[in-house]
Amino acid sequence: MSIISKYNRFSYVYDLMELPIELIWYSKWRKELFSNLSGRVLEVGVGTGKNIKYYPKNCEVVGMDISDRMLKHAKKRAVGKENVSLFLMDAEHLAFKNDSFDHVVTTFVLCSIPEPVTALEEMERVCKPEGMVINLEHMKSENRLIAFFEDLFNPITTALTGVNINRETVKNVKKAGLKVIEEKNIAMLDVFRRIRSKP
Ligand SMILES: C[S@@+](CC[C@H](N)C(=O)[O-])C[C@H]1O[C@@H](n2cnc3c(N)ncnc32)[C@H](O)[C@@H]1O
Repeated sequence: MSIISKYNRFSYVYDLMELPIELIWYSKWRKELFSNLSGRVLEVGVGTGKNIKYYPKNCEVVGMDISDRMLKHAKKRAVGKENVSLFLMDAEHLAFKNDSFDHVVTTFVLCSIPEPVTALEEMERVCKPEGMVINLEHMKSENRLIAFFEDLFNPITTALTGVNINRETVKNVKKAGLKVIEEKNIAMLDVFRRIRSKP
């Protein structure tokens, strides 16, 4: 089943399924990440639009997602917000000009994009040279025991949800030509990390 079909199917229960982790962790991390943004921001894999409420009013937000049904929920969250526009698009083929965003952001997206390096290359392309790409993601741990279990369970999570739990996201960011300027471990040792990088 394609990633589009998986997320179209999940779109109805996605927010409910994520509610516990959203309340415990994600909402706090989202608030911290988005409160400092400014200018023209591209959010890749906007999903049901959970980040929309955290953007400062002076941000011009462009959100995109490959799943039309996820995007339908995001559109509800964007009602009345004139600084937010949403598009159906593939992160691996962004329909934006080079150097056109001050920030490019993902939250919990690089685990499900089929070709994450290609998507990161696109983020590098559309981000201004003085801009910043920010990824808040879960990934493969450097801790051998955690990594073992991530590898073990990855076939199950990908089959069920399309989510990879063992992606080497920092390596992927570098492979895409981005220069990592900050890598911050956020939770579960280094499973959840925030990466800031420059084109
Ligand atoms: C786990 S959800 C995260 C949604 C949102 N960013 C959040 O923090 O709640 C992953 C999202 O990535 C989207 N996605 C997966 N592959 C994509 C691609 N190639 N292009 C654009 N969006 C994609 C999915 O449709 C889904 O909405």
